[in-house]
Amino acid sequence: MRVVHECTSLVLGSGIAGLTYALKASRHGDVLILTKKSRADSSTNRAQGGVASVMDPTDSFDLHTEDTLRAGAGLCRREAVELVVREGPRLVRELIDWGVSFTEDPTGALDLGQEGGHSQRRIVHAKDLTGKEIERVLTKAVEENSRIRLLENHLALDLWTGSDSRGRPRCYGASFLAPETGESGLVRARQTLLATGGCGKVYLYTTNPDIATADGVAMAARAGCPIVNLEFVQFHPTCLYHPDAKSFLISEAVRGEGAILRNLAGDDFMRARHELGSLATRDIVAREIDFQMKERGDKCVLLDPTPIGAERFRRRFPNISQRLEEFGLEPGVDPIPVVPAAHYMCGGVATDLDGRTAIDGLFTAGEVAFTGVHGANRLASNSLLEALVMADRAARSEPLADDGGEPAPPPSPGREPPGADEGVILDHEWDAVRRLMWDYVGLVRTRERLDQAIGRLRVMRGWAEDLYRRTRPSGDLAELRNIALAGLLLSRSARHRSESRGLHFLTDRPETDPEALETWSRLTPDGILIESRGLPVARTA
Ligand code: FAD
Ligand code: SIN
Repeated sequence: MRVVHECTSLVLGSGIAGLTYALKASRHGDVLILTKKSRADSSTNRAQGGVASVMDPTDSFDLHTEDTLRAGAGLCRREAVELVVREGPRLVRELIDWGVSFTEDPTGALDLGQEGGHSQRRIVHAKDLTGKEIERVLTKAVEENSRIRLLENHLALDLWTGSDSRGRPRCYGASFLAPETGESGLVRARQTLLATGGCGKVYLYTTNPDIATADGVAMAARAGCPIVNLEFVQFHPTCLYHPDAKSFLISEAVRGEGAILRNLAGDDFMRARHELGSLATRDIVAREIDFQMKERGDKCVLLDPTPIGAERFRRRFPNISQRLEEFGLEPGVDPIPVVPAAHYMCGGVATDLDGRTAIDGLFTAGEVAFTGVHGANRLASNSLLEALVMADRAARSEPLADDGGEPAPPPSPGREPPGADEGVILDHEWDAVRRLMWDYVGLVRTRERLDQAIGRLRVMRGWAEDLYRRTRPSGDLAELRNIALAGLLLSRSARHRSESRGLHFLTDRPETDPEALETWSRLTPDGILIESRGLPVARTA
């Protein structure tokens, strides 16, 4: 592979983390953003509920911190939570200064929404299209910045790493493939930001867009970075259940405004399960829905929107209303059929509070990063907040000087032409990984099923890696290689944790251990090394 592009800062991904970082890092020099589909193809663009932040005088940093720690079930790093909570209001105001139009109440103050696990109304939103509004403004700013170039349909394949003159691991950029043109090559950069988002597509049912194939986790793991707490996958309780509605989310804000979950017999089952009823944290609500569906043999539960009122529902949730009408449901009147679906990756690439990874010159921000903010279960709307804060902090670092090193490029994809039936087999393997993860590593787990999943994922990963090294790559193959590795890392982390905590629930070990430990895994030539580690800062309640 040859060097095709050079830049000061390389950014992989054009969601909130990548775009925010690019805008701020452009003061250090030129920035190149590679994004694998169109620029707006991101989870960010689909975010509905909003950004959690302390914007009201009756709220406080302490309350937001405590809510986050409570949701995180003992595994949040308090220092990380406090930092992200404190920095939030400044960065929300910066978004407003850049042109983001958040919804205001009749007095002209920000209209603050409510979501599960929050003790206060603190969700800053743009009706139910918050992410689209943020993405619109950030994309426009990037397009107007002469120091930033954005290449769409450019899929990063692997990080380009080696040792610097002192023998320290260093990142020199990344390899890429432009599937539409067949072009591939290297980008050389003084610093690289991984901002590739989450892993929803590792599962059969997800709220995530197609881009969420855990590429960043897989790339970082292959480069030797530690991956932390990958077992904590958040399942959103309310994904629209309809044969034609591909992964459409019904925002938690709908429950925040008063909607109530009911089983098909009409019972408010969450009321019996938790004092916060339908607004308990997502781990609890999603598991209870799963339980109701299995116990009753139902395919979904219902979200009863009538407490909100039809007129208010339409005004507050215009996007959801439009989609419901497309499926023949009257917004604010008809019960909405919903099921849980994979939504958010709480673990990720080990990252310090300045976005640094274990490899010099490699930073991460957004969903791909593990900072310790979310612990064993993310509090609603803390993701956009964390992404904003960490992208801002990562962009403060001065780029490393170019040391002139010429490390070996990452493993090249093969050259053999793909076989005639390769497309079909790839398709089936994609499906097999996602179905296996859904059935064996889903909302409710057992150690036996995890063992079975690990055995099969090892084979699937080996097959995909071998095919990648032999044949001319396609985008589908590169992504299959990533979901198979991420699925394996996730399953291994889940099997390593022999307790139930937050989002990780083992029916054969339902109790929580007194000591809260993180799961650290590392991919080595000999396999995956995995260990438990104590939290590096004071433990939380
Ligand atoms: P993303 O926004 O997902 O962006 C990732 C980018 O990386 C994309 O541009 C993608 O194309 C690119 N990419 C991926 N792999 C590669 C590769 N190999 N090469 C090049 N580019 C690549 N959180 C909240 O806080 N509040 C909410 O209201 C909220 N609502 C949500 C609603 C939905 C439906 C979903 C799916 C998520 C929601 N979340 C919400 C979570 C939140 O939106 C995401 O965690 C957040 O947007 C992640 O931002 P990001 O920049 O890390 O990644
Ligand atoms: C939602 O609107 O329910 C999603 C919020 C989130 O993922 O934090």
